[in-house]
Amino acid sequence: MTRGRFISFEGGEGAGKSTQAARLADRLRARGLQVVATREPGGSPGAEALRRLLVQGEADRWSATAETLILYAARDDHLTRTIRPALDRGAWVISDRFADSTRAYQGAAGGGSTALIAALEQAVVGADWPDLTLVFDLDPALGLERAAGRGGADARFEGKGLAFHQRLREGFRALAAAEPARCVMIDASGSPEAVEAAIWSAVQARLPVPEPAA
Ligand code: TMP
Repeated sequence: MTRGRFISFEGGEGAGKSTQAARLADRLRARGLQVVATREPGGSPGAEALRRLLVQGEADRWSATAETLILYAARDDHLTRTIRPALDRGAWVISDRFADSTRAYQGAAGGGSTALIAALEQAVVGADWPDLTLVFDLDPALGLERAAGRGGADARFEGKGLAFHQRLREGFRALAAAEPARCVMIDASGSPEAVEAAIWSAVQARLPVPEPAA
């Protein structure tokens, strides 16, 4: 049994990741692949329970350190119960956010300890980094406007102010530049169709996708 592939979608608020992750999952299923579409924080019952603590309530509810610890408890559960078992049975895993979000939100933008984040990465993620990470890049003013239009109760991080979201964008850009073998930047300002096409070329260029079943 060939181990599956792991693709993560990353970026700031309102960049269209969730829509595009669903479109990629559909395309890969059309190729006959088994696909597990998941998300962080969340993706397993325990991690979904922790998600509510993170995405609801006042913007300053947690320190960056507390957020990092809750996120890594959730990530450990997600990896153990959802991601690794899916990869082991040969499925492709598409995760709407993963460990780069902690580097960018809690580290680069939140001022949290990068040493703590690195230690948790080693203990929890280990060798199970995504094969490909698509980093959506968008002017945060535009992204926050789009995200506000969506509404909903899960908007805690949107309330952190424009300066936070500007640092976040720089953080994502820097981490993508530091790991070009894993990360591809996606210009998220185009039409959904243009973004979908850019993603499909990145996936085909980086990962061998089987031809559609005859
Ligand atoms: P979502 O809006 O993409 O579902 O993500 C929920 C929020 O959680 C989003 O505002 C970003 C935040 N987040 C972090 O701050 N650090 C992380 O590691 C992850 C996975 C998400």
